[in-house]
Amino acid sequence: MNSEIKTGIFCTGVTEWALKYFHGHELSITRGTSYNAYLIKDGEFNVLIDSVKAPHVPEFLKKLEAIVPLDKITHYVINHTEPDHSGAFTAIMAKSPNAKIICSRGGQKPLLRHYPGNWNIQPVKTGDEIKLHSKTLRFFEAQMLHWPDSMFTYCPEEKILFPNDAFGQHYASSSKFADDVDQCELWQEAMKYFANILTPFSGQIINKVNDFSKLGWPVEMICPSHGMIWRKNVTQIIEKYVEWASGKAEPGVVIIYDTIWGGTEKMARAISRGLDSANVQFRIFNAGTSDFNDVNTEILKYKGVLIGCPTLNNSLMPTIAPFLESLKGLRFVNKVGAAFGTYGWSGEGCARLEEFMKSGNISIVQQPIKANYNPNEEDLAKCEQFGKDFAEHLK
Ligand code: FEO
Repeated sequence: MNSEIKTGIFCTGVTEWALKYFHGHELSITRGTSYNAYLIKDGEFNVLIDSVKAPHVPEFLKKLEAIVPLDKITHYVINHTEPDHSGAFTAIMAKSPNAKIICSRGGQKPLLRHYPGNWNIQPVKTGDEIKLHSKTLRFFEAQMLHWPDSMFTYCPEEKILFPNDAFGQHYASSSKFADDVDQCELWQEAMKYFANILTPFSGQIINKVNDFSKLGWPVEMICPSHGMIWRKNVTQIIEKYVEWASGKAEPGVVIIYDTIWGGTEKMARAISRGLDSANVQFRIFNAGTSDFNDVNTEILKYKGVLIGCPTLNNSLMPTIAPFLESLKGLRFVNKVGAAFGTYGWSGEGCARLEEFMKSGNISIVQQPIKANYNPNEEDLAKCEQFGKDFAEHLK
């Protein structure tokens, strides 16, 4: 496919089809990803915007060299220094040692920590411009969307925004454009990306989107650094970011449990019957066998979170711990929750679950429900009522 997405503007990244995990093993990847870099050729100017992850540098350089000799790059814009986008820095600078490096004010320190050297760096702030031949580069500091160094680059003549990680998805396709691909897959991946990477910065995201909107820079194309380029109805993904960051969610429930001998699982199912009788949508996940990144995506979608675990060794089952740690770090907005679980003698499990939920910014709206050893019919009836009661908190 032609890499020229607008006259003189090329998408030159690399698609990674077989990746299973990102950020070490923290984030599952189910539909591949891409590292999108962009090249702007404008008269005597050749501007590279971002690059790719280190293992893909040879392929990237080959693609780039097919468009412009590397020693002719005049400006290298680093919107974000995380290594999945700056992995080719050393190789680029070896070929273009005189290229001017453009980064945000917050980008200088991490850039030099990753790539020590005496580089020709021009830090920029919101509103700064660099005039090229017929095009202009304009910058917007997007701190905490999602690092302190994050920056958007904007080309006013083409109304194109290069926001790096923002508005991206881990999604591989033979196409470059969002309107060419399966919309269910695309939006699921956009939501998974937001839920697992951007949720902790929800407050800053709303502020930054508002700040950007106030500038009045019209946008007709959004070129993120992962996944598909948005060229139709581009405001939709921006509006979705505001919705997700605001905690706007459906009145449904995610139930996550783990179980030793099946007692807590019986409780989960009884609770779901109570939700069902109240016409509440729910999804049930076994923490020990589910992908917690997918669970987090569902949590972003729904308002309610019910977590169940038996007490084990005066605490919780280790298999639920990775999920709870991720919940604590993500700090979802506007969620309500409650805990449940079986116990034998000491029974600390529910209290431990509530601690995690509170530290994950989930409001505990109902007393926990416990069952001793193995829930009997009376216990399960109480669980059904627990589900019905919880449904009231979703309104
Ligand atoms: Fe895609 Fe923050 O790196």
